[in-house]
Amino acid sequence: PIDRRVDSLMNLMTLEEKVGQMNQYNGFWNVTGPAPKDGSAAKKYEHLKKGWVGSMLNVKGVKDVKALQKIAVEETRLGIPVIFGYDVIHGYKTISPIPLAEAASWDMDAIQKSAEIAAAESAASGLNWTFAPMVDVSRDARWGRVMEGAGEDPYLNSVIAVARVKGFQGNLSEFNLAACVKHFAGYSFAEAGKDYNTVDVNRNTLHNVILPPFKAAADAGALTFMNSFNDVDGIPATGNAYLQREILKKDWNFQGFVVSDWGSMGEMVAHGYAKDLKQAAEQAANAGSDMDMESSGYVEHLAALVREGKVSEDKINDAVRRILRVKFQLGLFDNPYKYCDEAREAATVGKKEFHDGVLDVAKKSIVLLKNEKNLLPLKKQGQKIAVIGALANDKTSPLGSWRIGADDGTAVSVLEGLAKYTGNTVKYAKGADVALGNPQFVVETKINMTDKSGFDEAVATAKGSDVVIMVLGEHGLQTGEGRSRAELGLPGVQQELLETIYKANPNIVLVLTNGRPLTIPWAAQNIPAIVEAWHLGTENGHAIAQVLYGDYNPSGKLPMSFPKAVGQLPLYYNHKSTGRPGGDEPTESVFWSHYGDMQNAPVYPFGHGLSYSTFEYSNLKLSANSFGQNGHITVSVDVKNSSNIDGKEVVQLYIRDMVGSVTRPVKELKGFEMTEIKAGQTKTVTFTIDEKTIEFYTANGKWEAEAGDFKVFVGGSSVTKLQAPFSYSK
Ligand code: IFM
Repeated sequence: PIDRRVDSLMNLMTLEEKVGQMNQYNGFWNVTGPAPKDGSAAKKYEHLKKGWVGSMLNVKGVKDVKALQKIAVEETRLGIPVIFGYDVIHGYKTISPIPLAEAASWDMDAIQKSAEIAAAESAASGLNWTFAPMVDVSRDARWGRVMEGAGEDPYLNSVIAVARVKGFQGNLSEFNLAACVKHFAGYSFAEAGKDYNTVDVNRNTLHNVILPPFKAAADAGALTFMNSFNDVDGIPATGNAYLQREILKKDWNFQGFVVSDWGSMGEMVAHGYAKDLKQAAEQAANAGSDMDMESSGYVEHLAALVREGKVSEDKINDAVRRILRVKFQLGLFDNPYKYCDEAREAATVGKKEFHDGVLDVAKKSIVLLKNEKNLLPLKKQGQKIAVIGALANDKTSPLGSWRIGADDGTAVSVLEGLAKYTGNTVKYAKGADVALGNPQFVVETKINMTDKSGFDEAVATAKGSDVVIMVLGEHGLQTGEGRSRAELGLPGVQQELLETIYKANPNIVLVLTNGRPLTIPWAAQNIPAIVEAWHLGTENGHAIAQVLYGDYNPSGKLPMSFPKAVGQLPLYYNHKSTGRPGGDEPTESVFWSHYGDMQNAPVYPFGHGLSYSTFEYSNLKLSANSFGQNGHITVSVDVKNSSNIDGKEVVQLYIRDMVGSVTRPVKELKGFEMTEIKAGQTKTVTFTIDEKTIEFYTANGKWEAEAGDFKVFVGGSSVTKLQAPFSYSK
């Protein structure tokens, strides 16, 4: 019935009105005009009233959304409602951990719940569509947007993409949002991790690494996709028909619509792919980019391009049909004010239950990287605790990047979180700044901060305390879009501060707050306890304090490898073998794949994460050594909690395909299970391996299982050695 309603509406639409549906403006600056290029006064709402605005982004709050929706519904010829989009990336006002941190929880229920909270809160504020999840597989920590995804692994990205799509979209009620899977495709493969840079990926990498999470999200019913700023194989993604028409819409049968990234249509001119905006509009429309975010290419040129025969009306109809279908699916035609209830907004935004939810996922996102000298968990009574680092006393940084709906200063700081535990005495010293003024656009100045005047006070505070908690890392706005870094150490003088304090008192618990893997080899070597706390959102300090004091036993595992040095990047556990493989063992010759001045291994590998419990793996068993078509085998392993504390462990399953029609990774995550094991107890965890598990994009250009030999690995991180062979035959 939706398709019939779409068709009958489209029969009434003029070409300009159709093109209008394909136009998205940033509210209010464009919608109110748009401002004429000659500088004369904008004609208020001119395009909106003509029905030339299908969507707006960055308008939020029931009052504003309602006012604009009213114009669209009541003052345009056909009364087609506008769809309102916003970057609800990891929360709206109540902020959950950055997506990379949430990925470290490996807890799909918690991740889905977090997306549900984000949707419920923002939908109450008038929004209908989020530009999330970002599912770009990220192998290079220099790229600031790694904070927005689920890390380096295609499988983990895929299952998380599904959890997020389900969480946002639910059953498309008034508590849900349409999801937008981005950035299609290849954006995270920007050369040298420099945002917006050229992307050079081959088909094998595209299909086996980059595309699987997109496919998973499309299969999970994501209503929209966003293309990306970069080129792929020389063609900008926005003008890329292979990606958008061939793969997404044809092969995957995706029925939703594709929105461009901000201005990415116009940027095809800068790419040197289009000579002007008009040609860019032609290329984008022909390639299947359905909605134009902020280039004005469609609204200015598309109708003329159709008349000139450069873009067929069929293509316009296809795009408009997709956009209208989503509006129908969201129920906007039945009730354009479905998301516009002031009373609901007032009762919903910032609800206590949302705070409880984001606290829960924040605790689960923390990764215990190292714990020696019994420093953690902290004793609750009679301890003198020194807390050092500007980030310990910061209520904005923990909100992280891409949390545009939230107000600065609304996160619980680490100091505030620790203050809930009153049995110890806490003294604080800043030591050194990491951020100056408003870090929104002036990142470089902060990173190079050199002021060491706070060191003496910090040393004095550390001396004589039982434990020093140092909260160091990146400010929340030193990561994210446009925040690529060429060096990944602790910004400013924080490394020097750490080493100075270590000389005064080595009993340090280093709490890292950052949006990406950092290079911390010295800390990994010398500091007894290291806790990866990312940017955890509104409830940041409470989550960190509960983990430090052992009220939550950490269970997170890294979704990205932590490099020793930037020169190792891109660094990922699921690399190819190469013709001259080798680990870190010295060989007699130099002619193998390695660096002369650095090991190959990361400081902390993908999947690594400790707990206050200890887990031992044994008894890896396969139900059979081989299986054939439509068959399967079962893998089981015993996991013993050999400590006296109940804990949770993420049991990980990796597979190596020994020989393929194209070269295969040395190991690939193919399953995991989060399991709770009581102190002293053993649990048997089982996995099933079938054809789906071993499928990949082969030399035939399709997804299929190839006969041959495999190895299965099971353990608590990607470096597990516990393994068994099996084979598959056709
Ligand atoms: O959603 C974002 C995208 O990820 C980057 N460019 C701007 C879009 C809308 O804000």
